[in-house]
Amino acid sequence: MPALDQTDPSEFHGKVVVVTGGSAGIGRAIALAFAGRGAKVVVAGRNLEAASHVVADIERDFGKEALAVRTDVSLVADCNGLIEAAVGRFGAVDILVNNAAYFALVPLLDAGAADASQFLSTNLCGPLFCGQALARWATTNNRTGVIVNVSSISGARPAFGCGLYSATKAALNSLTKSMAFEWTPKGIRVNGVAPGHVNTDGVLADFESGRLDHDAMMRAIPARRIADVTDIANLVLFLSSEQSRHIVGATLTIDGGESL
Ligand SMILES: NC(=O)c1ccc[n+]([C@@H]2O[C@H](COP(=O)([O-])OP(=O)(O)OC[C@H]3O[C@@H](n4cnc5c(N)ncnc54)[C@H](OP(=O)(O)O)[C@@H]3O)[C@@H](O)[C@H]2O)c1
Repeated sequence: MPALDQTDPSEFHGKVVVVTGGSAGIGRAIALAFAGRGAKVVVAGRNLEAASHVVADIERDFGKEALAVRTDVSLVADCNGLIEAAVGRFGAVDILVNNAAYFALVPLLDAGAADASQFLSTNLCGPLFCGQALARWATTNNRTGVIVNVSSISGARPAFGCGLYSATKAALNSLTKSMAFEWTPKGIRVNGVAPGHVNTDGVLADFESGRLDHDAMMRAIPARRIADVTDIANLVLFLSSEQSRHIVGATLTIDGGESL
């Protein structure tokens, strides 16, 4: 069944949206979806060339202004610099999508301090410090804002080799609640999304290599499909819109029933 398309091309007109990890996969789909609804988008990632390609796609497909910013979210200075760059170019930041994450298969018996540090600094500290930079700018300038953190159903269930990844996503779900608790009274509304498997390059490569069994996964997912990146983007846009104004501190599962 085709997805419902009730797109309002001006829904986010005048809004400035920062998407970390906006140069690939789910983040790229989120960046394009916001641009398609009128937003000015800032695409952040470590590889500036890859982020610049998405900016070129946005300018070509939607005729909207966009900006690529080289950012490593595991570095506090880069998180601050990202929000500064967005404000410097567009005058404000209205919406932050903390989408960038580190993923690697590391069985817990092999996990070292460097592994733990990389998972934590990217998947937990990145959203914290990018969110903090936005919240500080917004509260100082009497502005409101929205933050959406991209988590995973892995935060609530183990999978072999995913222990550190799962732990950081569980911690991110908790951080989402705390951010919402502390910052919503200041006008910064915070929520999260927790996808199951999505048709990104990483998942498709795992089907190819046999690490993931496609047919077994289809049997295990009640919806008998994995998500398209646009499914996740649509939920992020909903959580960024006024339609969801009374949803606060929630991490919404979007997995076709995979985690039931
Ligand atoms: N794919 C799935 O099935 C799935 C399922 C559940 C949840 N998720 C979550 O969805 C989000 C996106 O996943 P994805 O599969 O779309 O990822 P992806 O295709 O691997 O893309 C990752 C993006 O994040 C950027 N990135 C990685 N580390 C970064 C860092 N330290 N600082 C800034 N940018 C960084 C990458 O660009 P650079 O390399 O240039 O930095 C790239 O733009 C993640 O939070 C992931 O945990 C994914």
